[in-house]
Amino acid sequence: MSSYQTGVSPPITVPSVRERKHSSKKIVALTAYDYTTALLLDREDVDIILVGDSVASIVQGESNTLPVTLDDMVYHCRAVSKGVKRALVVGDLPFLSYQISPEDAIRSAGRLLKEGRVGAVKLEGGMAVADTIKRIVAVDIPVMGHVGLTPQSYHRMGGHKIQGRSHGDENGSWERILEDALQVEASGAFAIVIEGVPADLATEITKRVTIPTIGIGAGSQCDGQILVTHDMLGLGITDPPRFVKKYLQLSDQIGEAVRNYAEEVRSGAFPSAEHTLTNLPIKQLKRA
Ligand code: KIV
Repeated sequence: MSSYQTGVSPPITVPSVRERKHSSKKIVALTAYDYTTALLLDREDVDIILVGDSVASIVQGESNTLPVTLDDMVYHCRAVSKGVKRALVVGDLPFLSYQISPEDAIRSAGRLLKEGRVGAVKLEGGMAVADTIKRIVAVDIPVMGHVGLTPQSYHRMGGHKIQGRSHGDENGSWERILEDALQVEASGAFAIVIEGVPADLATEITKRVTIPTIGIGAGSQCDGQILVTHDMLGLGITDPPRFVKKYLQLSDQIGEAVRNYAEEVRSGAFPSAEHTLTNLPIKQLKRA
């Protein structure tokens, strides 16, 4: 039984995430875009539930995260927040909702807190967004950084490509990503997602920063791990990246259930007497 059900596990807050840097307890993070998934993850004591802009590919059928809007993110953040009692809910700031000006960024982040009811926001980038992070943090909106493979840089990277394999000072190099992470920390972020980089780079960042690092495709040495829930449940139609471990293959099970249902509807086996309503008093009718 999860501690959520027994009520012994205190809510996860921004300070308690920061404190994990000094504990041996790894941070467990997953994504959610809706109320039901959020509730299921929260019940299992997942520490951070990220309402990722990956909603664009997973829910909206887009090939990258660029089309998702701030209104979309507010909608999904609110649905997720309603399902969560314990985890820290973090909302992604979508492309162009924070890059134009710090004022715009504060307004966008504020909407995710006020209307989406999240506890923190996440944004992508390093040096280029350092001042913006400072300004958002200055109005008491906690910020999680995101360096390495930053999906909003899709066109610059030429697709969702592993970063940090080259050396030098250009965008996406080993040294530049390390510097990005240091600047994100110096700007006041409370944690950093490190995505799609060689493990030695993520290990170096984790050693050098005093805030927790949360890896995705970044090896085992980060202070926590995050995966896209649909990927780890095997819910996708296409194969997820190699760094994803599939804990289930739900797409097969869903396919089988739908095939069985269709066959039973066509043969008349469903609904049987058990699933057929009679004139029982209303209070005795239960959802199947
Ligand atoms: O949008 C997202 O789901 C993310 C995670 C992959 C970290 O940013």
